[in-house]
Amino acid sequence: MNWGFIGFGRIARKFLESLESVDGEIPYAFASRSNAVALQEEFPGVKVYDSYESLLADDNIDVVYISTTHNFHCDNTIAALKAGKHVLCEKPMGISSQEIAKMTEVAKSSGKFLMEAMWMRFLPAYKSAINCVKSGEIGKVNYATASFGFRSEDKLTKEGRLLNPELAGGALYDVGVYPLTIISDLFGWKPQHFAAHAIKSETGVDETIQIQFDFGNNKLAQVMGSVTFHTNKEACIYGDKGFVRMPMFWKADSYEIVKGDDITVVELPYKSTGYAHEIEEVVSCIGQGKVESPLFSLNDSLMSAQLVEEILSTIFK
Ligand SMILES: NC(=O)c1ccc[n+]([C@@H]2O[C@H](COP(=O)([O-])OP(=O)(O)OC[C@H]3O[C@@H](n4cnc5c(N)ncnc54)[C@H](OP(=O)(O)O)[C@@H]3O)[C@@H](O)[C@H]2O)c1
Repeated sequence: MNWGFIGFGRIARKFLESLESVDGEIPYAFASRSNAVALQEEFPGVKVYDSYESLLADDNIDVVYISTTHNFHCDNTIAALKAGKHVLCEKPMGISSQEIAKMTEVAKSSGKFLMEAMWMRFLPAYKSAINCVKSGEIGKVNYATASFGFRSEDKLTKEGRLLNPELAGGALYDVGVYPLTIISDLFGWKPQHFAAHAIKSETGVDETIQIQFDFGNNKLAQVMGSVTFHTNKEACIYGDKGFVRMPMFWKADSYEIVKGDDITVVELPYKSTGYAHEIEEVVSCIGQGKVESPLFSLNDSLMSAQLVEEILSTIFK
């Protein structure tokens, strides 16, 4: 298929590398509002547009990858679907449940494929770790933790997207959605109770967030995210026969099964820069005429957005 990119920033470059590694998938065109001239020089074999509208009017494009800042995802996705394109949209797909509902409605009425780029769910090591837990390898699971904190100096400026409220800045939108997703894989999307606390930035967004969940039935979880400091960046899932530790769980290429003093390391590297697996899912679903992926469905996107919304509403009440 011919792919068109809407927005061409940092993540688009890494995604491009993965796309080029998947047979039959072609990076056909890029649209960048800020950088079209330089991109055309850098990528002479690719069509480069300086507006998203002109890329969407190109009939040769089958599927669009959206990697603008979160605040634009909804409008960009709806425009692409209305232009008759399938869409893979970066996480978080929307910044409210209302946005996700609108995007879903347009996807369903257009009959085109739409998926949130929650690439973690498609990684071989991540899938294997979750299957290992579900198979009962570490016994009954009642507790899990996941932490994703990082600091990227150049993105913390006033204009940078991470702390800028106009660009939907904040830790929960940017990194928190990964811990929420791993916890959903264990205990579902609907906690009975939660307590959330944040360190707020001077710009008024959550620069660090910590949430304790109670899913009922003795299932507890603790997650955190930060865009101002690095954390150990690992997820741990605790059972009564041992625990699974997943370093860098959102880009997992291995995990450990720990039982007493015994540690078994399972290594399952991802292909290319890691995004090849979600790309293969998009290709496979579209090939089968599916309008969404069962592995990260539009309902998953809705549940995730609803949970984010509930958490943020307790912090910014
Ligand atoms: N899946 C992953 O591993 C992963 C990793 C990082 C980020 N992401 C997601 O990908 C998206 C983009 O992240 P990124 O790090 O690539 O961001 P970025 O490099 O800061 O920006 C991406 C694009 O967004 C547009 N943009 C940026 N700032 C803007 C502004 N002030 N006004 C208007 N447009 C602006 C630009 O589009 P133009 O090119 O058109 O100017 C830019 O190229 C985010 O939603 C993020 O959550 C995903």
